[in-house]
Amino acid sequence: MSEKLKVGILGGTGMVGQRFIALLENHPWFEVTTIAASPRSAGKTYAECVEGRWKMDTPMPEAVKNIVVKNVNEVEAVASEVDFVFSAVDMTKDEIKAIEEAYAKTETPVVSNNSAHRWTPDVPMVVPEINAEHMKVIEFQKKRLGTTRGFVAVKPNCSIQSYAPVLTAWRKFEPTEVVVTTYQAISGAGKTFKDWPEMEGNIIPYIGGEEEKSEKEPLRIWGEIKDGVIEPTTWPLITSQCIRVPVLNGHTAAVFVKFKQKPSKEELIKAMVEFKGAPQELDLPSAPKQFIQYLEEDNRPQVQLDVNYENGMGISVGRLREDTIYDYKFVGLSHNTVRGAAGGAVLCAELLKAQGYITKK
Ligand SMILES: NC(=O)c1ccc[n+]([C@@H]2O[C@H](COP(=O)([O-])OP(=O)(O)OC[C@H]3O[C@@H](n4cnc5c(N)ncnc54)[C@H](OP(=O)(O)O)[C@@H]3O)[C@@H](O)[C@H]2O)c1
Repeated sequence: MSEKLKVGILGGTGMVGQRFIALLENHPWFEVTTIAASPRSAGKTYAECVEGRWKMDTPMPEAVKNIVVKNVNEVEAVASEVDFVFSAVDMTKDEIKAIEEAYAKTETPVVSNNSAHRWTPDVPMVVPEINAEHMKVIEFQKKRLGTTRGFVAVKPNCSIQSYAPVLTAWRKFEPTEVVVTTYQAISGAGKTFKDWPEMEGNIIPYIGGEEEKSEKEPLRIWGEIKDGVIEPTTWPLITSQCIRVPVLNGHTAAVFVKFKQKPSKEELIKAMVEFKGAPQELDLPSAPKQFIQYLEEDNRPQVQLDVNYENGMGISVGRLREDTIYDYKFVGLSHNTVRGAAGGAVLCAELLKAQGYITKK
């Protein structure tokens, strides 16, 4: 029998679900044994379900083709087959909240990509390099749910991954104000150009809910556990505009920062490239060796050249320079469906396994 942990993917037929399946092919610790999606897909093989809508640029893994897809709503049937699940379903917020807790209550840990539980006070929202210690709030959540091993953990929104890690590396210089504009890829909406031809040569200056997430989620990640919940921090002030651009994969962020104590450019670059956390210390399978790279060329980072840095798990930064109104400005880039979605969740699950929260049932 395989020693690997058995994993179910809720929403396995969608854009993020497919990315989970591609990333978990040959994973050393996890094996996809179960896939669930909407009632429309239930009962068909995975290959039948995604025929004509496989969106990855690597072929569909052989091992999943003949898995018969289950209905996400049949919680007991899915939970009985797996040690934990990844969640990437497109349902209403209330439905997702309820179904993720229902899985947790079957003693099945849920590592979610969805935003539904990001502000549930005892649910950790984690970028493993930044706030691995927030997983400790799980003990309080388990008490509330009445579980011994079931819980929900989430990763933050894709939009913040191109700048929040950089600002974390700079927290010792006390950033006070941040202005960020994100240029976000269409895969962030679960789409390709085939599904969304109107995006070719186009820009749309609105992504529902994205600006609030981009401004508030970093504050929760930098927060602390107090009285059994995560209490967000209050600094720096962040304001944002989020814009959809005609790019398939890769969210870019153009950022201005003001500091309490203005550091030198050299100090900022050193802090960025040396920044690391639990995934590097624990040598987790999906951890980038270097989390943030700094590119000196004036025309970098570029989506085409840099989005796959460290297999899509690293952040590329360039154009750091002094500003006339703020102290500094820079441009960051990250892969929105790898680091920003499925890859970020896989790294969270690896951390949870290393910390002893995810085990064999
Ligand atoms: N794309 C990104 O970069 C990204 C990043 C962060 C977070 N997210 C979040 O992740 C979730 C999935 O995003 P996506 O882009 O992968 O969406 P998607 O491509 O539209 O996939 C949606 C998945 O949910 C399933 N589903 C839809 N309606 C359902 C229902 N009523 N009951 C049960 N399952 C249902 C679909 O199954 P069928 O195939 O059977 O319809 C499919 O597996 C969303 O909440 C999204 O906001 C996405």
